[in-house]
Amino acid sequence: MKATALTDEDPVKLAEFEARIDRGEKIEPSDWMPQLYRKQLIRMIEQHAHSEIIGALPEGTWITRAPGFKRKLALMAKVQDEVGHAQLLYSAAETLGKSREDMIADLINGKSKYSNIFNYPAFTWADSCFISWLVDAGAIVNQIANSKGSYGPYCRALERICAEESFHLKYGHHCVIHLATGTKVQREMMQAAFNRWWAPMMHFFGPSDKISVHSEILMRWKVKMSSNDECRQQFLDMYVPKIWELGLTVPDDKLRKDPETGQWEFTEPDWEEFKRVINGDGPCNKERLAVRRVAEERGAWVRQALLAPKTKYVAPLA
Ligand code: COA
Repeated sequence: MKATALTDEDPVKLAEFEARIDRGEKIEPSDWMPQLYRKQLIRMIEQHAHSEIIGALPEGTWITRAPGFKRKLALMAKVQDEVGHAQLLYSAAETLGKSREDMIADLINGKSKYSNIFNYPAFTWADSCFISWLVDAGAIVNQIANSKGSYGPYCRALERICAEESFHLKYGHHCVIHLATGTKVQREMMQAAFNRWWAPMMHFFGPSDKISVHSEILMRWKVKMSSNDECRQQFLDMYVPKIWELGLTVPDDKLRKDPETGQWEFTEPDWEEFKRVINGDGPCNKERLAVRRVAEERGAWVRQALLAPKTKYVAPLA
């Protein structure tokens, strides 16, 4: 999306808008904003909301099989939080003029994207632990930065989300420590999860800055406060030492921190696979959307009932 679409905007209003952003002011729903700002925010917040709701699926399937009552309770609460995050984000996107019904329809018909990482299967309990620790860690890196951004409703939603995500992170870390310091079988299961999830995790932060389409305009308008590469570097900086500390291996021979630049070097992620997955052809895309479709159909009567509050219902006697 090129900044040239801005030529249709009133230049005085555009300059005032950009000056407000430069001063660090928040933009609120009733304020003037360029069409492109609105469109970009809807795209990004909607994709984020879908990611939360679809992200609940790979972990949700582990609730009944989580080892022990405490893990079941904690995972159930986490999954419930993720769905709650989707609700907060759909509300934030609605302030920009797109209805929730339209957003859900676009998710189900495959028009909208959601995070690549939730299109991979969680084969073992260790996969669920990887998600709870490191996928949530990656999400926090991105969301803490963006919570300082320019659009008020999105930033406020992100602040609340980050508070809850920090509990998920502690829970996930605890689960991974338990497996990584457990029996040989547990350690191998955890390592196998790392081997499966590392590549999608590197994709999670988005394409490298050189090929990112939207970063330039989103960073100019302080919607994104860190670039994709900056978030990826920050994640590596914060979590690779913690992974190594547990005796786990990152499946990338080239991974090392350059002592001079302070930057992490790693094998260039396979961007062709990334494109395939985000465009609907990952291992679980079809399954994930099919589950959402069924949930939508089964919930239709509830939504219908809520839309007709004056209808008198007969309470069944038994
Ligand atoms: N999964 C799926 N799609 C992704 C992606 C990912 N991990 N990273 C990038 N993309 C998509 C973008 O949506 C965009 O597609 P589109 O033009 O069809 O909408 C395309 O790849 C190009 O990427 P880029 O120009 O870098 O997109 P971006 O500037 O929007 O940055 C994010 C991508 C994910 C970093 C950004 O949208 C973001 O911070 N989103 C909010 C946080 C979020 O959604 N987290 C998800 C899980 S909690």
